[in-house]
Amino acid sequence: IILPIILSGGAGTRLWPLSRSLYPKQFLKLVPNDERSLLQATLSRLPEEEGFAAPMVICNNDHRFLVAESAAEFGVRTSEIILEPVGRNTAPAIAVAAFAALATDPDAILVVMPSDHVITSETGFRAAIAKAVEVAADGRLVLFGITPDRPHTGYGYIRKGAPLETGEGAFTVDQFTEKPDADTAESYLADGNYFWNSGIFVLHARTFLDELSRLQPDIVEAAKAAFENAHKDLDFLRLDEESFAASPGISVDHAVMEHTDRAAVLPIDVGWSDVGSWSSLAELGESDEAGNVVAGFAAHPNQAVLHDTRNCYVYSTRSLVSAIGLEDVVIVETPDALLVTDKSRAQDVGQIVERLKRTD
Ligand code: GDD
Ligand code: MG
Repeated sequence: IILPIILSGGAGTRLWPLSRSLYPKQFLKLVPNDERSLLQATLSRLPEEEGFAAPMVICNNDHRFLVAESAAEFGVRTSEIILEPVGRNTAPAIAVAAFAALATDPDAILVVMPSDHVITSETGFRAAIAKAVEVAADGRLVLFGITPDRPHTGYGYIRKGAPLETGEGAFTVDQFTEKPDADTAESYLADGNYFWNSGIFVLHARTFLDELSRLQPDIVEAAKAAFENAHKDLDFLRLDEESFAASPGISVDHAVMEHTDRAAVLPIDVGWSDVGSWSSLAELGESDEAGNVVAGFAAHPNQAVLHDTRNCYVYSTRSLVSAIGLEDVVIVETPDALLVTDKSRAQDVGQIVERLKRTD
């Protein structure tokens, strides 16, 4: 089987104040001209009609009903919704998914997808997945490479190696660096042989667990015990809390991709965006003559009055928004919080959320 695995554990803090810990960004309908939430778009990306197994979602216990409703509202069948009692980052989550997949098929291939990305070319994406499946069946851990256009420090960087024989267009990976500092990112961009890591992985479940056992045996042990001692609760599969909490909390990028010799990279051009911050939403939106993008309630007729204002992003949930003489500013209004930031600092919104948590 080829099993879509959807990781839905993130909090999406950089999209505060719209994204909240009890209602994070994957559940929001954020994309212009798309009536689906980011999670719903992900759930329907590799449909059963195209030969994929029904997707498996791994999420935090707090979000279980939001996940179940997202699938139901969209008429998507899930093969399992696995609940984490605590977040331990992506490596343990994928390890649990691998054990769950092996329970049905010893040769299962996982397509691991973040729940909060946009991909505009779904057919291009499925063609890339088909190629990646071949490469994964050959014993490689497959990453998808995005051609970088700026020295973004929030991504993993992949240095491509030699072309591979299986999977036309795929390369070995010479080096993987998760979230480099700004100078390093700058040098990678100038070098020209680096891709951004899309965060989507195609993995032969057994091969992945073998590699993880070699690199981080504690994670595999914890994930195995958490899965074997899991119990059904309604339609959900609850991982055993004590076993899962014992896992180190580490991302798959740091735990595996930075150290393995078995990675391969397949470059893709499918309109990928990780919708990481308000500035990336501004890029996805349609701008007016002055370069402003207006969304939400403010996009209704006459609900945004922008005077001498250029290249701004405005989102409101219920208020008319007006601005005078602004450039490159983001304004986001919600019933109980207002964000105003320079576009170039939109990456730092997570720090506001950190401060709010401290003053709770
Ligand atoms: N189930 C579960 N449990 N999911 C999780 C957890 C967890 O503890 N932590 C994160 N996730 C989910 C998030 O919801 C998201 O969909 C995905 O896993 C990736 O986590 P992020 O926290 O968003 O990672 P990132 O954006 O910092 O970095 C990753 O994605 C980049 C591309 O967007 C890395 O893979 C980078 O290398 C990559 O460039
Ligand atoms: Mg992310």
